[in-house]
Amino acid sequence: MKKVSVSFTLNGDPVTAEVPVTWSLLKTLREYFELTGAKEGCGVGECGACTVIVDGDAVNACLYPVFEAEGKSVMTIEGIAGEDGTLHPIQTAFLENNGVQCGYCTSGMIMSAKALLDQNQGPMEDEIRTSIAGNFCRCTGYVQIVEAIEMAAREME
Ligand code: FES
Ligand code: FES
Repeated sequence: MKKVSVSFTLNGDPVTAEVPVTWSLLKTLREYFELTGAKEGCGVGECGACTVIVDGDAVNACLYPVFEAEGKSVMTIEGIAGEDGTLHPIQTAFLENNGVQCGYCTSGMIMSAKALLDQNQGPMEDEIRTSIAGNFCRCTGYVQIVEAIEMAAREME
């Protein structure tokens, strides 16, 4: 398989990956960089489990060709806690509001929430719901997740 060399910023660090040209960003993150926080659920852009942030926007990494990441800034769930391990306020809010059950959707949910709160410090409930409209959760019923994002917004103000 023909390979491609892709250089980008990953959680603040410059990186280069040499991977098959057909690989997605998700496959590259999980199998080349061994960052397994972003999950593969559907693999076709429906569930949001694979959500990461590219240049400030939440994207479905399963659909994102890795070569499109050239020169961009990619952030994953592994990159949002403090260097000393202190959880990001969104992570803390998910824990405190029972926004995590099985956890499969959680990294994608948190990255969608982070993309929203980085751009909008005082979101209305409908804006929160819209921001996670592409993220499916089979466990929580979403109420706790919305409450968690509302709490995180207050904490981050
Ligand atoms: S795995 Fe990417 S949207 Fe479902
Ligand atoms: S916590 Fe299980 S899918 Fe959301």
